[in-house]
Amino acid sequence: QPRTRDIINLMRERLPSKILALLADIGKSADQSGCNAFVVGGFVRDLLLYRKNEDIDIVVEGDGILFAKAFAATRQARVHAYSKFGTAVITLDDGFKVDVATARTEYYTAPAALPEVEKSSLKADLYRRDFTINTLAIQLNQSRYGTLIDHFAGQKDIKDKTLRIIHNLSFVEDPTRIFRAVRFESRFGFSIGKLTVRLIENAIRMGVFKRLSGARAMGEIIAILEESDPVPSILRLHEFRLLAALHPAMALTETTTQLLMESRKALDGYELMAEDSNCLRWLVYFMVILTPCTSGEAREVCRILRLAKWQEDLCVRERQQADHCLKRLAKELPLDNSILYARLHVFKTEVLVYMMAAADSNRTRKAIAHFLSRLRSVRPEIQGRDLKNLGLPPGPRYKKILIQVLDAKLNGLLQTKEDETAFVARILSDTGRQNGNLELIK
Ligand code: CTP
Repeated sequence: QPRTRDIINLMRERLPSKILALLADIGKSADQSGCNAFVVGGFVRDLLLYRKNEDIDIVVEGDGILFAKAFAATRQARVHAYSKFGTAVITLDDGFKVDVATARTEYYTAPAALPEVEKSSLKADLYRRDFTINTLAIQLNQSRYGTLIDHFAGQKDIKDKTLRIIHNLSFVEDPTRIFRAVRFESRFGFSIGKLTVRLIENAIRMGVFKRLSGARAMGEIIAILEESDPVPSILRLHEFRLLAALHPAMALTETTTQLLMESRKALDGYELMAEDSNCLRWLVYFMVILTPCTSGEAREVCRILRLAKWQEDLCVRERQQADHCLKRLAKELPLDNSILYARLHVFKTEVLVYMMAAADSNRTRKAIAHFLSRLRSVRPEIQGRDLKNLGLPPGPRYKKILIQVLDAKLNGLLQTKEDETAFVARILSDTGRQNGNLELIK
């Protein structure tokens, strides 16, 4: 058991001063409200793992909502209370949020009732959680500030790099924890303990996923796919036959695994070159996971998992178009920039990243990267207003001319707005002359 002094030192060393001050103030407020307050869960786990985490979850022994209101009053913060659950969210004046919960005691009424309600309610609350590593708490009251509370040997599991559930029904009660186990295993480089693995297998065999809504399952899948390297976790999901449990068509093949790894490279590459990345990483991976499915199966999976219609279309129709385009590019390259642009500008970022991953040559990959980094953002400087000033009456020709300007610009023929204006003037005088000729011929 580390000494309180060591924990306080660790907090001082690792936490930003703003958070340290906040935790100390929470402790003071708790004293004034006559309750016990603890920071719990992921925050404490990550403190011990030297990982950044600024999600503060407070558990209060006493009335969490009253405490939240009292604390907020000292800081001019806002409180949103959920009386049904005894929880509250405090929003500080800079927008920073703190979650507060009242220690719940449902389990406390169990047969072997514990003697002191006040003292054991934190333990009862922590008992309801998923893994031992998430059950650590640090007390914040001034006289006990920095006391580490470890009811379920969470520290030992952190040291042994093991994920263990607290009680055998954990996965049956909440099947999303299976996904969390897989996600944490890879995020922290931990392994799932032997008994815990068996319980996962049992739960899957029992069909716990039949009770899990598609939307919740997808929420967990997205969380996995948003981790920095989800590939090992996807393989693990496959190993547990979890993907197939959601839909039999979601079986991972050797080719898909390869493509997933290429996708990670492509995503990392894209994020390095993109100024502001608006690419949904999870969607690229998910699109790849669906590659072995037929269109019908892929759509079914998307519907079961409650993806939005545009996401479903992206995974099915746009992906097929992308595959078709890749085949065509492989034959056509090298291409003028304007043609490359015409081939690729119809695709969303996620699909273009997928294409980089799925391309069968470096030449194609480079062409797509060139489009993403250089061509995609090119726009003519000249606008409709300028065309009007050049004497062109408004009409459908505007669009055609602007496309001609864009093409010439993409191909490096135009640098400045003056170049563009001169270019348009030339088009107009050429067509003028042609029309004149036509008049003569007529
Ligand atoms: N928790 C749980 N069962 C779940 C989800 C969460 O018991 N299905 C508990 C965990 O013990 C966790 C706490 O609720 O510590 C908060 O969960 P979450 O907000 O997901 O935080 P983290 O564990 O830090 O996970 P992440 O890093 O993904 O946010």
